[in-house]
Amino acid sequence: MNVVKGVAEMKALSRSLKRDGKTIAFVPTMGALHEGHLTLMAEGKKRADVLVASVFVNPTQFGPGEDYKKYTRDTEGDLDKMSQTGVDIAFFPGPEEIYPPGFQTYVEVTELEKPLCGASRPGHFRGVATVVLKLFNIVRPDVAFFGRKDYQQLQVIKRMVRDLDLDVEIVGMPIVREASGLAMSSRNAYLSEEQRTRAVALSKALGEIKRKFDGGERKASVLLESGKRILSDSSAGEIDYLEIRNGDTLEEVMLASPGDVAALAVKVGRARLIDNIEL
Ligand code: PAF
Repeated sequence: MNVVKGVAEMKALSRSLKRDGKTIAFVPTMGALHEGHLTLMAEGKKRADVLVASVFVNPTQFGPGEDYKKYTRDTEGDLDKMSQTGVDIAFFPGPEEIYPPGFQTYVEVTELEKPLCGASRPGHFRGVATVVLKLFNIVRPDVAFFGRKDYQQLQVIKRMVRDLDLDVEIVGMPIVREASGLAMSSRNAYLSEEQRTRAVALSKALGEIKRKFDGGERKASVLLESGKRILSDSSAGEIDYLEIRNGDTLEEVMLASPGDVAALAVKVGRARLIDNIEL
């Protein structure tokens, strides 16, 4: 595995791979790699000649008071997992290279970034879209992989790719869960054993919404009430949102239909956890 830190070096590598007619699969991450990331990488490995994965904890997608400084950093562990998963190029750029002095250009996906996580994390998706576009320009992938756990992020990136005519296929991969149902996330590392047990209620609440939907219930308010009850009965944590939205536009729906998504964010201890289920 080739470990690359410099942007210029990564650009030169992708340029030469393209010249040689090679296809590139790309998995951008913020590190603290878990099974969910490794699934994206394993799929990337199958889908192109060369697999590039990046680790960059992106400061512009964290708001003031969020966990940028405390976000888990485990370079050695990440490198180990990447090489075991068949990553060909591990790209670890530094913040000063991604955001050089005087940096002032941002990408905004104006509507999709407003609801759900965007409402409580203003500027978050602007930071995500900006860094993902920069990484795409540096790595020049043919195909890039994102987890469906970050459902809104996936929609924002797909929209950006369409709107800006980027030449990259975006693949959304299924959520990877622990045996308990808890969605895998780097932020699960913040949970105590007791919080981890409580956090199982998140996937249970979504499962109940889906069960009721599959049973024929369509009223979003009724579906959401059943999910909220599970969250409050198990004292899961402070609910940021639990909503049903159109799966593409993320507009709120009163009557749910197939393709909509039930999504939630709940603060469990110091971890703000998100999860969703597609109806
Ligand atoms: O999902 C993540 O880990 C990040 O938001 C991403 C896509 C790597 C951008 O920083």
